[in-house]
Amino acid sequence: MTVSFFDTHSFERPIFISQNEGFKFEINFLEGRLTSSTASLAKGSQVVCSFVNDKIDSECIEALSEIGVRLIALRSAGFNHVDLEAAQKYGLIIGRVPGYSPHAVAEYTIGLLLSLNRKIHKSYLRVREFNFSLDGLVGFDLCGKTVGILGTGRIGSIVAEILAAFGCNVLCNDKFPNSKLKGHANISYVDCGQLCKESDVISLHVPLTPETYHILDREMISHMKKGVFIINTGRGALIDSKALINALKSGHVGGAALDVYEEEEAVFFQDVSDKILQDDVLARLLMFPNVLISSHQAFLTKEALINIVQTTLENISEFQKTGTVPSERLVIPESHLK
Ligand code: NAI
Repeated sequence: MTVSFFDTHSFERPIFISQNEGFKFEINFLEGRLTSSTASLAKGSQVVCSFVNDKIDSECIEALSEIGVRLIALRSAGFNHVDLEAAQKYGLIIGRVPGYSPHAVAEYTIGLLLSLNRKIHKSYLRVREFNFSLDGLVGFDLCGKTVGILGTGRIGSIVAEILAAFGCNVLCNDKFPNSKLKGHANISYVDCGQLCKESDVISLHVPLTPETYHILDREMISHMKKGVFIINTGRGALIDSKALINALKSGHVGGAALDVYEEEEAVFFQDVSDKILQDDVLARLLMFPNVLISSHQAFLTKEALINIVQTTLENISEFQKTGTVPSERLVIPESHLK
């Protein structure tokens, strides 16, 4: 079976090649992102393998369907970049990799919070320039602070537990409270309004859906404590970036650490250091001394990569044998496909 593998990166290719020895798929590694204009490169493949910043909209799905693609094997947990209605219409199966390493993302979230608060990224650069001054590096103790966790699924629940162990008062909000956090000292569930009002730090771990799009907008941010820190390792469009910029300018938001950004697909995962940055919103965010941005790397651990590769190859193998993927990794239940 031939697999067209879009948006290939050097950090994953060797792992796919070595793990594929047990499966023997013919993998066609392509560097470009999967979009409606690149979909034709998959001609001859029944399977395309896609990453988080591909643009699998209805035109792309129609183009894939026309050339005989039957499975989109996502190498991600999130599937907000896929037009599910179109996939349903064209009967395309979408497999994903849920929970490949929630610890990877949770631990990185804590790393971002600690760096932002204690300014570790700044002191690293300063000391390399032989500037050993401490001026401007004052942070705050996390112990005793209130932290709001929006979304307590696989990742958010681990973040909540780690911060509870730091001695934080953890306020959670989720449509479906997580039973593993119930009865935990220092962790309680509250409504979203109370979470925003009382938290010194807010960390986002809900998926991006129409309901959560810009969940942190101007209105929601206005209810937050002055000086609040916002951490986002979820998805960029959970935050209205322009509203965040205004709140950072006024000082209402005291700092932000963002591993994801709503227009990230134009630049994230690429070296564009020799180009002029065209995104004025991202450029403005990068200007703030109290904003820390990374390029969607929270997932990037050896363990997570191995799990992503193994599960993706298993999904393709299952599809080859049965025409579908294991139900817990199926984005659209089979009964919903037309
Ligand atoms: P999950 O599905 O285990 O947890 C999501 C939680 O959000 C669930 O408990 C759900 O009930 C809750 N939720 C959904 N809509 C809600 C709403 N409107 N209000 C309140 N709660 C709501 O997902 P998991 O594995 O914890 O991942 C969370 C997100 O993290 C993913 O959807 C993905 O976007 C992002 N992610 C980011 C990565 C990175 O490298 N930066 C890597 C992996 C995931």
